[in-house]
Amino acid sequence: MIVHKKLTNGFEYIEVKNEAAEAKVALQGAHLFHYERAGEEPILWLSEASDFELGKAIRGGVPICWPWFGFNEDKSLPQHGFARTSLWEFVGSDEVDVKTTVLTLRLTHDEKTFQIWHYKFLLELKITISDKLSMELKTTNLDDSAFKISQALHTYFSVSHISETAIKGLDKKPYLDALTWKKELQEGDITFNQEVDRVYQEVDGEIVLGDKNRTIHIKNDGSSSVVVWNPWIEKTLRMSAMKEDAYKYFVCIESANAFDNARILEPQESHTLVASFS
Ligand code: BG6
Repeated sequence: MIVHKKLTNGFEYIEVKNEAAEAKVALQGAHLFHYERAGEEPILWLSEASDFELGKAIRGGVPICWPWFGFNEDKSLPQHGFARTSLWEFVGSDEVDVKTTVLTLRLTHDEKTFQIWHYKFLLELKITISDKLSMELKTTNLDDSAFKISQALHTYFSVSHISETAIKGLDKKPYLDALTWKKELQEGDITFNQEVDRVYQEVDGEIVLGDKNRTIHIKNDGSSSVVVWNPWIEKTLRMSAMKEDAYKYFVCIESANAFDNARILEPQESHTLVASFS
Protein backbone atom coordinates (compact mmCIF):
# COMPACT_ATOMS: atom_id res chain seq x y z
CA MET A 1 0.00 0.00 0.00
CA ILE A 2 1.28 3.45 -0.90
CA VAL A 3 -0.41 6.58 0.45
CA HIS A 4 0.50 10.16 -0.38
CA LYS A 5 -0.05 12.32 2.74
CA LYS A 6 -0.04 16.06 3.33
CA LEU A 7 0.19 17.88 6.67
CA THR A 8 -1.83 21.06 7.22
CA ASN A 9 1.36 23.13 6.76
CA GLY A 10 1.82 21.66 3.27
CA PHE A 11 4.56 19.17 4.21
CA GLU A 12 4.11 16.07 2.04
CA TYR A 13 5.26 12.50 2.50
CA ILE A 14 4.72 9.03 1.11
CA GLU A 15 3.74 6.20 3.41
CA VAL A 16 4.53 2.62 2.36
CA LYS A 17 3.33 -0.61 3.94
CA ASN A 18 3.95 -4.11 2.69
CA GLU A 19 4.11 -7.52 4.37
CA ALA A 20 7.77 -7.11 5.32
CA ALA A 21 8.08 -3.48 6.42
CA GLU A 22 6.72 0.04 6.55
CA ALA A 23 8.37 3.35 5.76
CA LYS A 24 7.72 7.08 5.41
CA VAL A 25 9.54 9.35 2.96
CA ALA A 26 9.17 13.14 2.86
CA LEU A 27 9.23 14.87 -0.52
CA GLN A 28 11.41 17.53 1.05
CA GLY A 29 14.90 16.07 0.86
CA ALA A 30 13.60 12.66 -0.36
CA HIS A 31 14.05 12.15 3.35
CA LEU A 32 13.30 8.66 4.64
CA PHE A 33 12.25 9.34 8.24
CA HIS A 34 10.72 6.03 9.26
CA TYR A 35 11.57 2.39 8.52
CA GLU A 36 10.37 -0.53 10.55
CA ARG A 37 10.34 -4.24 9.75
CA ALA A 38 7.09 -6.07 10.53
CA GLY A 39 6.91 -6.91 14.24
CA GLU A 40 10.15 -5.07 15.11
CA GLU A 41 11.13 -1.72 16.61
CA PRO A 42 12.01 1.10 14.12
CA ILE A 43 15.55 0.90 12.77
CA LEU A 44 15.85 4.63 12.17
CA TRP A 45 15.90 7.19 14.96
CA LEU A 46 13.69 10.26 14.61
CA SER A 47 13.95 13.15 17.04
CA GLU A 48 10.78 13.80 19.02
CA ALA A 49 11.67 17.46 18.70
CA SER A 50 12.03 17.37 14.91
CA ASP A 51 10.14 19.84 12.78
CA PHE A 52 8.20 18.83 9.72
CA GLU A 53 8.45 22.23 8.15
CA LEU A 54 9.38 23.30 4.66
CA GLY A 55 12.92 24.66 4.56
CA LYS A 56 14.10 22.90 7.76
CA ALA A 57 15.93 19.57 7.64
CA ILE A 58 14.28 16.76 9.59
CA ARG A 59 16.41 15.62 12.55
CA GLY A 60 16.65 11.85 12.18
CA GLY A 61 16.00 9.23 9.52
CA VAL A 62 18.30 9.52 6.50
CA PRO A 63 19.08 13.11 5.48
CA ILE A 64 20.83 13.31 2.12
CA CYS A 65 23.95 15.47 2.26
CA TRP A 66 24.67 16.62 -1.30
CA PRO A 67 26.44 18.16 -3.30
CA TRP A 68 28.78 18.59 -0.37
CA PHE A 69 29.24 16.91 2.96
CA GLY A 70 29.88 19.12 6.01
CA PHE A 71 30.79 22.79 5.70
CA ASN A 72 31.31 24.52 2.37
CA GLU A 73 34.39 26.74 1.99
CA ASP A 74 31.83 29.52 1.54
CA LYS A 75 30.43 29.62 5.08
CA SER A 76 27.29 31.43 3.92
CA LEU A 77 26.17 28.21 2.19
CA PRO A 78 24.22 25.53 4.10
CA GLN A 79 26.02 22.75 5.97
CA HIS A 80 25.63 19.41 4.12
CA GLY A 81 24.39 21.08 0.91
CA PHE A 82 20.88 21.82 -0.30
CA ALA A 83 19.42 18.40 -1.25
CA ARG A 84 18.00 17.75 2.23
CA THR A 85 15.94 20.95 2.24
CA SER A 86 14.93 20.96 -1.45
CA LEU A 87 11.57 19.73 -2.66
CA TRP A 88 12.05 16.56 -4.72
CA GLU A 89 9.73 15.16 -7.35
CA PHE A 90 8.07 11.82 -6.60
CA VAL A 91 8.63 9.88 -9.81
CA GLY A 92 6.71 6.74 -8.89
CA SER A 93 6.48 3.47 -7.03
CA ASP A 94 6.67 -0.19 -7.89
CA GLU A 95 5.08 -2.84 -5.71
CA VAL A 96 7.45 -5.57 -6.88
CA ASP A 97 5.89 -8.27 -4.71
CA VAL A 98 3.93 -8.43 -1.43
CA LYS A 99 7.14 -7.84 0.53
CA THR A 100 8.98 -5.33 -1.67
CA THR A 101 8.16 -1.76 -2.65
CA VAL A 102 10.44 0.55 -4.60
CA LEU A 103 10.05 4.34 -4.56
CA THR A 104 11.85 6.70 -6.92
CA LEU A 105 12.35 10.43 -6.35
CA ARG A 106 14.44 12.97 -8.17
CA LEU A 107 15.85 16.47 -7.97
CA THR A 108 17.22 18.56 -10.78
CA HIS A 109 18.72 22.03 -11.20
CA ASP A 110 16.47 25.09 -11.21
CA GLU A 111 16.78 28.79 -10.44
CA LYS A 112 16.97 28.11 -6.70
CA THR A 113 19.77 25.53 -6.97
CA PHE A 114 21.72 27.79 -9.38
CA GLN A 115 21.80 30.44 -6.64
CA ILE A 116 23.71 27.98 -4.43
CA TRP A 117 25.53 25.74 -6.91
CA HIS A 118 26.15 26.67 -10.54
CA TYR A 119 25.81 23.28 -12.24
CA LYS A 120 23.15 21.34 -14.12
CA PHE A 121 22.52 17.95 -12.56
CA LEU A 122 20.08 15.12 -12.06
CA LEU A 123 19.92 13.44 -8.67
CA GLU A 124 17.83 10.28 -8.38
CA LEU A 125 17.04 8.26 -5.29
CA LYS A 126 15.67 4.73 -5.40
CA ILE A 127 14.52 3.33 -2.04
CA THR A 128 13.75 -0.37 -1.75
CA ILE A 129 11.56 -1.15 1.25
CA SER A 130 11.52 -4.80 2.22
CA ASP A 131 12.93 -6.83 5.15
CA LYS A 132 16.12 -5.15 3.96
CA LEU A 133 16.31 -1.41 3.27
CA SER A 134 18.31 -0.19 0.35
CA MET A 135 18.95 3.34 -0.94
CA GLU A 136 20.62 4.17 -4.25
CA LEU A 137 21.59 7.77 -4.86
CA LYS A 138 22.58 8.43 -8.46
CA THR A 139 24.19 11.70 -9.51
CA THR A 140 24.39 12.60 -13.20
CA ASN A 141 26.32 15.58 -14.48
CA LEU A 142 24.10 17.39 -17.04
CA ASP A 143 26.47 20.34 -17.27
CA ASP A 144 29.10 21.22 -19.88
CA SER A 145 31.77 21.34 -17.15
CA ALA A 146 33.02 18.74 -14.73
CA PHE A 147 31.91 19.12 -11.12
CA LYS A 148 33.04 17.77 -7.76
CA ILE A 149 30.67 16.28 -5.21
CA SER A 150 30.97 14.98 -1.70
CA GLN A 151 27.92 13.35 -0.20
CA ALA A 152 26.41 11.17 2.51
CA LEU A 153 23.36 9.11 3.29
CA HIS A 154 23.43 10.43 6.86
CA THR A 155 21.64 7.58 8.62
CA TYR A 156 20.50 8.01 12.23
CA PHE A 157 20.22 4.49 13.69
CA SER A 158 18.10 3.99 16.75
CA VAL A 159 19.98 2.22 19.59
CA SER A 160 18.90 0.79 22.96
CA HIS A 161 21.45 3.10 24.66
CA ILE A 162 24.63 4.66 23.26
CA SER A 163 26.71 3.14 26.09
CA GLU A 164 25.52 -0.34 25.01
CA THR A 165 26.43 0.29 21.36
CA ALA A 166 29.43 -1.04 19.42
CA ILE A 167 30.39 -0.72 15.75
CA LYS A 168 32.46 -3.45 14.12
CA GLY A 169 34.14 -3.50 10.71
CA LEU A 170 36.33 -0.38 10.95
CA ASP A 171 39.26 -1.89 12.85
CA LYS A 172 42.63 -0.69 11.40
CA LYS A 173 40.91 1.89 9.18
CA PRO A 174 42.38 5.40 9.03
CA TYR A 175 40.09 8.24 10.02
CA LEU A 176 40.03 11.97 10.24
CA ASP A 177 38.92 13.08 13.68
CA ALA A 178 36.62 16.04 12.97
CA LEU A 179 37.01 17.22 16.59
CA THR A 180 40.81 17.66 16.38
CA TRP A 181 41.38 17.49 12.55
CA LYS A 182 44.06 14.86 13.20
CA LYS A 183 44.48 11.64 11.23
CA GLU A 184 44.17 8.55 13.43
CA LEU A 185 43.95 4.78 13.08
CA GLN A 186 41.03 2.82 14.52
CA GLU A 187 41.94 0.08 16.98
CA GLY A 188 39.19 -2.49 17.60
CA ASP A 189 35.45 -1.77 17.79
CA ILE A 190 34.04 1.72 18.21
CA THR A 191 32.30 2.29 21.52
CA PHE A 192 31.01 5.53 23.00
CA ASN A 193 31.76 7.42 26.21
CA GLN A 194 32.24 10.91 24.72
CA GLU A 195 31.50 12.92 21.56
CA VAL A 196 32.58 11.09 18.39
CA ASP A 197 32.77 12.77 14.98
CA ARG A 198 35.01 10.83 12.59
CA VAL A 199 35.38 10.33 8.88
CA TYR A 200 36.72 6.83 8.21
CA GLN A 201 38.48 6.31 4.87
CA GLU A 202 39.35 3.27 2.75
CA VAL A 203 36.30 1.40 4.01
CA ASP A 204 35.40 -1.63 1.92
CA GLY A 205 33.66 -4.36 3.91
CA GLU A 206 30.49 -4.71 5.92
CA ILE A 207 29.90 -2.63 9.05
CA VAL A 208 27.99 -4.16 11.94
CA LEU A 209 26.10 -2.11 14.49
CA GLY A 210 25.17 -3.92 17.67
CA ASP A 211 23.32 -2.83 20.79
CA LYS A 212 21.61 -4.70 23.65
CA ASN A 213 18.72 -5.82 21.48
CA ARG A 214 19.85 -6.30 17.90
CA THR A 215 22.48 -6.33 15.17
CA ILE A 216 22.26 -4.34 11.94
CA HIS A 217 24.45 -5.08 8.92
CA ILE A 218 25.41 -2.10 6.77
CA LYS A 219 26.76 -2.52 3.24
CA ASN A 220 27.89 0.37 1.07
CA ASP A 221 28.81 0.55 -2.57
CA GLY A 222 30.24 3.44 -4.60
CA SER A 223 31.56 4.81 -1.33
CA SER A 224 34.75 4.37 0.64
CA SER A 225 34.16 6.78 3.50
CA VAL A 226 31.97 6.28 6.52
CA VAL A 227 31.15 8.97 9.03
CA VAL A 228 30.49 7.96 12.63
CA TRP A 229 28.88 10.61 14.77
CA ASN A 230 27.33 10.99 18.20
CA PRO A 231 27.16 14.51 19.67
CA TRP A 232 27.22 13.39 23.33
CA ILE A 233 25.95 15.72 26.09
CA GLU A 234 27.30 19.25 25.49
CA LYS A 235 26.80 19.37 21.74
CA THR A 236 23.28 17.93 21.97
CA LEU A 237 22.32 20.95 24.07
CA ARG A 238 23.47 23.23 21.25
CA MET A 239 21.84 21.31 18.40
CA SER A 240 18.59 22.19 16.70
CA ALA A 241 15.59 19.87 17.01
CA MET A 242 17.04 17.57 19.68
CA LYS A 243 15.87 16.94 23.22
CA GLU A 244 18.64 17.13 25.84
CA ASP A 245 18.96 13.35 26.30
CA ALA A 246 18.63 12.56 22.56
CA TYR A 247 22.29 11.52 22.19
CA LYS A 248 21.61 8.40 24.28
CA TYR A 249 19.33 6.86 21.70
CA PHE A 250 21.03 7.16 18.32
CA VAL A 251 24.26 6.84 16.45
CA CYS A 252 24.88 8.10 12.92
CA ILE A 253 26.74 5.79 10.56
CA GLU A 254 26.89 7.66 7.27
CA SER A 255 27.56 6.05 3.91
CA ALA A 256 29.67 8.74 2.31
CA ASN A 257 32.11 10.12 -0.21
CA ALA A 258 33.72 12.78 1.95
CA PHE A 259 36.98 14.78 2.05
CA ASP A 260 39.69 12.80 0.12
CA ASN A 261 36.95 10.57 -1.24
CA ALA A 262 35.02 13.38 -3.04
CA ARG A 263 34.18 12.49 -6.67
CA ILE A 264 34.70 14.45 -9.86
CA LEU A 265 32.07 13.81 -12.51
CA GLU A 266 32.70 14.76 -16.14
CA PRO A 267 29.78 15.97 -18.32
CA GLN A 268 27.22 13.14 -18.78
CA GLU A 269 29.02 10.98 -16.24
CA SER A 270 27.04 9.34 -13.40
CA HIS A 271 27.95 8.01 -9.99
CA THR A 272 25.81 5.87 -7.70
CA LEU A 273 26.14 5.64 -3.93
CA VAL A 274 24.36 2.63 -2.41
CA ALA A 275 23.66 1.83 1.22
CA SER A 276 21.73 -1.18 2.43
CA PHE A 277 20.74 -2.23 5.92
CA SER A 278 19.60 -5.66 7.05
C1 BG6 B 1 27.62 14.94 10.90
C2 BG6 B 1 28.86 15.77 11.11
O1 BG6 B 1 27.71 14.32 9.66
O2 BG6 B 1 26.47 15.78 10.90
C3 BG6 B 1 28.73 16.54 12.41
O3 BG6 B 1 29.98 14.91 11.11
C4 BG6 B 1 27.45 17.38 12.40
O4 BG6 B 1 29.87 17.39 12.56
C5 BG6 B 1 26.28 16.44 12.13
O5 BG6 B 1 27.29 18.03 13.63
C6 BG6 B 1 24.90 17.12 12.12
O6 BG6 B 1 24.84 18.16 11.21
P1 BG6 B 1 23.53 19.03 11.05
O7 BG6 B 1 23.85 20.05 10.00
O8 BG6 B 1 22.43 18.08 10.61
O9 BG6 B 1 23.24 19.62 12.40
